[in-house]
Amino acid sequence: MSEAAINNTANTTAPGALMTALRARTAALHVATENLKLMRKLMAPEVDLGTYRDYLAAIAAPYTRVEPHLHNLCAPATLARLGVQPKLPALERDLAALELEPSRLPKALNERLKDLVRDETDALGGLYVLEGATLGGRVISQQLTRNLGSAANTLPFGFLGSRVDPSPASGWRHFGTALEAEVSAGGHDPERVLSAAVAVFEIVHQGLGNSRCARDAREVNIG
Ligand code: HEM
Repeated sequence: MSEAAINNTANTTAPGALMTALRARTAALHVATENLKLMRKLMAPEVDLGTYRDYLAAIAAPYTRVEPHLHNLCAPATLARLGVQPKLPALERDLAALELEPSRLPKALNERLKDLVRDETDALGGLYVLEGATLGGRVISQQLTRNLGSAANTLPFGFLGSRVDPSPASGWRHFGTALEAEVSAGGHDPERVLSAAVAVFEIVHQGLGNSRCARDAREVNIG
């Protein structure tokens, strides 16, 4: 193991340190994702219903592959300790309500997912990405409902969550503490958790950038 890796591993043992390292390691990808054309349109004051539809179809491409893959790699008891619930059923209900077909994740990205995320250690890093996206999702839905005005009342917000749903913040705090406990008690290599988080974030990012509607909008494929 390199000196940098030893330091990195040592630095992730203090409470909160692994979550801080996960945030730092994925920060550039988060910025790049927020800067995807589709995401910028989604957050813009002039957003319309079509953009929300495009977003739901686009996020479904990575989500339909990534979430089941991560959950299948984890023992049910691990998922229960982390307090992780599948979001795919809510996303599928939103898509059905809007009569939308999900975009498909390109085969190469699905293969990459299976190659890079192979066991529970890797899955823990991936779950950080999906749980964080749930936290950020509430910020997206709040901005969307403000910008869409009364038109938002007609839309399904099961996946992103709506004003009336409980805030995901306490779930996120629990997840952070439980993830660190899991990594430490389970003897998982923190460096592998960090690498898998980056790999899964890249797959979600590229899946969003490659989606049909993003391409139709002449999206540039970042990454
Ligand atoms: C328009 C798109 C997006 C916006 C505006 C956005 C915004 C945000 C915001 C505001 C937070 C912090 C929430 C809080 O602290 O209460 C957050 C956290 C996070 N988001 Fe996003 N997000 C977007 C897309 C995504 C996507 C697609 C993913 C997954 C691939 C993602 C992954 C995360 C993660 C992992 C965190 C937790 C960061 C941490 O460790 O604190 N986000 N996001």
